[in-house]
Amino acid sequence: MHIGTTLTNYIIETQRQIQGATGEFTGLLNDIAVACKKISGLVDKGDLIGVLGSAGSENVQGETQKKLDVITNEVFLEALAHNGHVAGLASEEMDEIYELPADAPRGHYLVLFDPLDGSSNIDVNVSVGTIFSIIKAPEGVVRPTTEDFLKPGAQQCGAGYCLYGPSTMMVFATAARGVQMFTLDKDFGEFLLTHEDVKIPDDTSEFAINASNSRFWEEPVKRYVDECLAGSEGPRGKDFNMRWIASMVAEVHRILTRGGVFMYPVDEKMKAKKLGGKLRLMYEANPMSLIIEQAGGVSSTGRERILDMVPEDVHQRVPVILGSRNEVERIVGYHAG
Ligand code: AHG
Ligand code: MN
Ligand code: MN
Repeated sequence: MHIGTTLTNYIIETQRQIQGATGEFTGLLNDIAVACKKISGLVDKGDLIGVLGSAGSENVQGETQKKLDVITNEVFLEALAHNGHVAGLASEEMDEIYELPADAPRGHYLVLFDPLDGSSNIDVNVSVGTIFSIIKAPEGVVRPTTEDFLKPGAQQCGAGYCLYGPSTMMVFATAARGVQMFTLDKDFGEFLLTHEDVKIPDDTSEFAINASNSRFWEEPVKRYVDECLAGSEGPRGKDFNMRWIASMVAEVHRILTRGGVFMYPVDEKMKAKKLGGKLRLMYEANPMSLIIEQAGGVSSTGRERILDMVPEDVHQRVPVILGSRNEVERIVGYHAG
């Protein structure tokens, strides 16, 4: 009977090709997979186990926390903090970087995560996800500082997301080996390799943006969307389709599967509030940008490559425009004037 390639098999195989690899990265990815399997089970059971609804608290960004925002954050901490694979953790749901317990062995990596992305969708039974970014910790560090986390996305050792949709899927990218997709076999309890070396088509006629913000958009974004909406009668000479799920994980997954553009640009309303964007650089934009670039797509703020940005704050927000190469390059071109 054929089992297939498990996530663990795949990582061990990858590790064999890296000289001097110790197995710690493999261990870390296993910890992340365990956390995601646990979260998948919680999301599946939903109302049956009373995990839906608000927690009655706010996170550092002033957003109302869902019960599952809090629970999934705890799952990640429990799965990662004690196994000697990380030296520190940072999360959307924690104001400060998380210091490991004094007795926990220290590893060589730092992980930044959004434990539940798209959490406004959780109560309406629409896809949500988890996003994670892995960077190297300074050698021998016991108590990493915020500065140790503030590395440009180009320095990520790996990044991924887990999508809790009709299937649970883990998508993982490293600069060395591109993007792979694994699907959770829930009977068997393993993620199995289902798509290897995923590539995004260069062209698309599908875009995703929250149109309720349109009156605040900057000129280049207005121009791009107007041209798409003008369809076959407009300058693009073809009709476009639009999707908005409000879970970045689900939007990125659609783009990896069939191409497209996703935009959460900076707009006048954000600028008035001194916000640089909606999405968070370190645990949303950076990991997704590594995945998109490794799949042959482009990821930009409109003005610069996201992976080149030097972070100033763990919770920093940035504009995000990512997806099929030719469309994102066109939008970047509109920003250049
Ligand atoms: P989170 O649930 O982690 O706060 O992230 C939600 C993000 C992202 O997933 C999504 O693309 C966007 O916010 C949705 O924004 P709107 O509410 O403006 O649709
Ligand atoms: Mn999110
Ligand atoms: Mn979140």
